[in-house]
Amino acid sequence: MTDQSKAVPRHVAIVMDGNGRWAKKRFLPRFFGHKQGVDALVRIVQACIDRNIEHLTVFAFSSENWKRPSDEVSGLMGLVLAAVSRYLARMGAMGVRIRIVGDRDAVSDKLRNAWNEAESSTLHNSKLTLNVAFNYGGRWDIVQAARAALVAGVKPEELTEAKLSEFMAMSYAPDPDLFIRTGGEVRISNFLLWQSAYSEFVFSDCLWPDFGEAQLDAAIAAFRERDRRFGGVKTDTALEA
Ligand code: IPE
Ligand code: IPE
Ligand code: MG
Repeated sequence: MTDQSKAVPRHVAIVMDGNGRWAKKRFLPRFFGHKQGVDALVRIVQACIDRNIEHLTVFAFSSENWKRPSDEVSGLMGLVLAAVSRYLARMGAMGVRIRIVGDRDAVSDKLRNAWNEAESSTLHNSKLTLNVAFNYGGRWDIVQAARAALVAGVKPEELTEAKLSEFMAMSYAPDPDLFIRTGGEVRISNFLLWQSAYSEFVFSDCLWPDFGEAQLDAAIAAFRERDRRFGGVKTDTALEA
């Protein structure tokens, strides 16, 4: 019998943290850490494809990251535009479908157009879905889902967990099995609050630009050691009881 808990995670979510510290350690401006972070992401996308992971969701810019100095924010926006033009064709060739999750209203027209192009040009790819959480917050997601449900005319008595899930930003994806945070902090920072209810968490001290296949494999190995019960009891335990 296949033990599902020992399977490869279908959906991996990553808080890509530690870019600034990576740069600081090298006496470089924080921007260089973000730049290296893009390359780390491209490597991890390939590694996920190689491991038959279906969904990779990465936290690229949080609803709260607007609090950063304006030069860092504009540097990040410019970096995303550069990354799309540099890597979009390669991602397409790798069979990656790109989807953006987050509030697009607050980003520039230029960036919105780049996101639209990234999504439409990779629409038919199916090897791996790369969900880029940008201007995303878990609380934003819950509120936008509730609003969308109201607009759709859902009545209070019809609003179940399953119904609200239909309106969440990643309703098309299974909930993340494995939630990784790099950079040493042990917190969620408003990432996938709704979707991570039963995710397995792995916190790594590795700074994101240094995160590679070895660290991904270590996180997957830790995941495979976990006993996922989803609030129930394992069958053999139940028999013993
Ligand atoms: C994560 O790295 C990337 C973004 C938030 C865009 P940080 O920039 O938070 O890096 P540290 O945590 O300061 O090292
Ligand atoms: C979370 O990292 C957001 C991203 C990685 C995009 P932060 O660096 O913004 O989180 P805090 O401020 O340490 O909680
Ligand atoms: Mg950080």
